[in-house]
Amino acid sequence: MSAPSFCGPGVVRIVETRHLGWSFSLKKQQSGKRDQMRAKTAVVLGAQWGDEGKGKIVDVLSARFSAVARYAGGHNAGHTVIHGGQKFILQLIPCGVLRPGCKSIIGNGVVLDPLAFLNEVAKLRDLGVAVDGQLFVSNRAQVILPYHRMIELAAESAPGRKKIGTTSRGIGPAYEDKMARSGLRVVDLLRPELLKTHIEAACAEKNAIVHALFGAAPLDPARMYEEYAAAAELMAPFVADTARLLNSIMAEGGSVMFEGAQGTMLDIDHGTYPFVTSSSATAGGASTGTGVGPTAIGTVISVTKAYVTRVGEGPFPTEIHSAAGDQLRERGNEYGAVTGRPRRCGWLDIPLLRYSNQVNGAEWLVVTKLDVLDELAEIPVCIGYEIDGKFTDEIPADVHGLESIKPRYTMLKGWRQSTESITEFDKLPQAAQEYLRFQELESGAKIGMISTGPDRDQTIMLPEFTAALNSLHA
Ligand code: GDP
Ligand code: IMO
Ligand code: MG
Repeated sequence: MSAPSFCGPGVVRIVETRHLGWSFSLKKQQSGKRDQMRAKTAVVLGAQWGDEGKGKIVDVLSARFSAVARYAGGHNAGHTVIHGGQKFILQLIPCGVLRPGCKSIIGNGVVLDPLAFLNEVAKLRDLGVAVDGQLFVSNRAQVILPYHRMIELAAESAPGRKKIGTTSRGIGPAYEDKMARSGLRVVDLLRPELLKTHIEAACAEKNAIVHALFGAAPLDPARMYEEYAAAAELMAPFVADTARLLNSIMAEGGSVMFEGAQGTMLDIDHGTYPFVTSSSATAGGASTGTGVGPTAIGTVISVTKAYVTRVGEGPFPTEIHSAAGDQLRERGNEYGAVTGRPRRCGWLDIPLLRYSNQVNGAEWLVVTKLDVLDELAEIPVCIGYEIDGKFTDEIPADVHGLESIKPRYTMLKGWRQSTESITEFDKLPQAAQEYLRFQELESGAKIGMISTGPDRDQTIMLPEFTAALNSLHA
């Protein structure tokens, strides 16, 4: 096999490092018919450790969908949408809420903090966004209660415990209760008697555990009940059987976008365990997290930055430890949308992206923040790893393997001119086009969109992708 013809000088030939099996599946994927969707639905998710720019992309695409549904995570997410000079940061509510006429659905796979939900609803109302009759919450979603946060805060700061660097929202403990079959669902939140007995029993147990393990002060169940019973009343109009709603939207010919939260490498099964979140952020989660069957998933669109970031603890093979990392952070404004934490920055990691595309069955790639690389003369891209002296382009399952990885880079040419606000692929500098094509060829998914700035309008749509989206309305 020869190197791709559009790779400019300075690009190391890496094809010989690619596994035969991979080349085969790449070919198979690329020869597949992508100009039509199997169903009028698409999953949009993050390829790495979150904050890839999913919010912006979901917002741009939401114009073409009847409904947008969140399927995993909770208010640990922070999805930024900017248009018309206005900035919105959505945590729990799908970005589709910003499109008049587009239904927004919080699926059963989400863990929902009622107070955070009501707070977000109030903020949206203040900004003039219509939520009534547009926004629906699954009656089967799990509820986050104050003891979940208490347990997480105590566990994260306890000596001898593995610190994950969580968002302190109670996400992990709420999913623990779900799997232990001791959680509270939204449908139960609406029944005062059940809510009361649940809170009393849970507080008795959790207070005892947290006191014994971490010496934390107990929570008052009576106060908690009052607060959450009041919140339940305000939430009631939004609660629905959302699996039924989504299936009926599809049965009537409507189109649905599944909005991923977090990213593939934070997925509870496929991510860098244990430094992950507690939900299924990958494409499969869209089905279990909304009650829509896998046969109704039309396509999977994976969002990747032109480089990589990560918040919190855990392995990050291509992390930059020099001043170049600080420059990326400043240029890309890489600070958590919600927590304000500085994001760790690194170079694009091709094996990781390929792995991510594989576990998600991603057919389309959306590359964001291309403009952040504008000033670089050369851009390192990781094409494989050295682990214990051996070369590999596979992602090890164990954290030790990931931590002892030495990334191998190839240097791609930078373009040293502004790509900001460019809306046509052909107008991008040649070197930027080559950078993108390299990413496409090596990752196995086709580039459908490129983002050249945070605003809705700073977007390039590629014709084949537009054709595939148009088929949603055929
Ligand atoms: P999400 O969690 O995946 O939705 O991403 P976040 O909203 O947490 O973080 C992405 C950040 O990058 C936000 O501040 C966006 O406004 C910003 N952003 C998105 N796309 C672009 C882009 O193409 N260029 C630049 N410079 N910023 C972008
Ligand atoms: P969006 O949707 C980036 C990270 C946390 C921590 C780990 C576990 O905006 O991309 P958790 O509170 O979920 O138990 O924390 O996961 N994390 C995110 N990082 N973007 C996110 O969401 C994240 N949601 C969780 O920083 O490392
Ligand atoms: Mg985010």
